[in-house]
Amino acid sequence: MVIGLIDRVPSGIPGLDELLGGGFVKRRHIVICGGPGSGKTTLGYEFLYRGAEEYNEKGLFVSLEQSPERVVEGAKALFKEWDWDSHLDKNIVVTRIQLEDFNNLKDIIGSYVREHGVKRVVLDSLTLLKLYFRGEDAYRNNLYELLTFMGDLDCTSLLTLEKEINKRSEANYDMEEFVADGVINMYLVPKDMDRLRVLEIIKMRDTDHSTKLCPFKITPEGLMISPKARMFGGIE
Ligand SMILES: Nc1ncnc2c1ncn2[C@@H]1O[C@H](COP(=O)(O)OP(=O)(O)OP(=O)(O)O)[C@@H](O)[C@H]1O
Ligand SMILES: [Mg+2]
Repeated sequence: MVIGLIDRVPSGIPGLDELLGGGFVKRRHIVICGGPGSGKTTLGYEFLYRGAEEYNEKGLFVSLEQSPERVVEGAKALFKEWDWDSHLDKNIVVTRIQLEDFNNLKDIIGSYVREHGVKRVVLDSLTLLKLYFRGEDAYRNNLYELLTFMGDLDCTSLLTLEKEINKRSEANYDMEEFVADGVINMYLVPKDMDRLRVLEIIKMRDTDHSTKLCPFKITPEGLMISPKARMFGGIE
């Protein structure tokens, strides 16, 4: 018997698994932070699509905001080359939980994971949860409870969090980043007359990982992350 071998859940996203040392650690819950349009939801779509397409793993996309129709429309518009219809409602389920129903969130995620064998979960976004609970204590307690509950489930999750990081060197860490098992930051930074997409892994419990700042592109075939590319300015 091999003791201490870490089970991985490859994202399947070119470049990202290399940065992660082979993929996300199984049954861990990771916060994806970034400003508007930085690519958080996009990363979530691709995690689920590649899970179904390449790893035969079922996925659940929980939106706290948009209708399932709108989510599907967005995913199809973004990744046009992919055969979404062969997976939707079979291997990938998209659902919306209205905030008033938040107490059902654990039940719904729990039932998809336990009864339908879902292995990958995306929750978009924690920011709405924060707005819903208003007080910091109530939010922290509920988030902690949710992550503890999910920690006992056989699934790996990405939870998006809106966070504008203007100066990387001065970034403050939010409570979510301490309680989650992992944190990935995504940036859309000004560079000359354009903007550049970059990401970095801030934390990933139980594994070594790259701490490099990596440029990436969003393409109709998915994110293209370049672990070997070097950054020349554009972000402090
Ligand atoms: N077909 C495409 N090809 C390349 N880039 C695209 C394409 N469609 C959308 N984008 C880019 O992706 C961005 C949206 O990414 P995404 O929705 O994942 O961001 P987000 O971090 O979830 O933002 P928010 O916080 O607003 O939800 C768009 O603003 C656009 O720049
Ligand atoms: Mg989004």
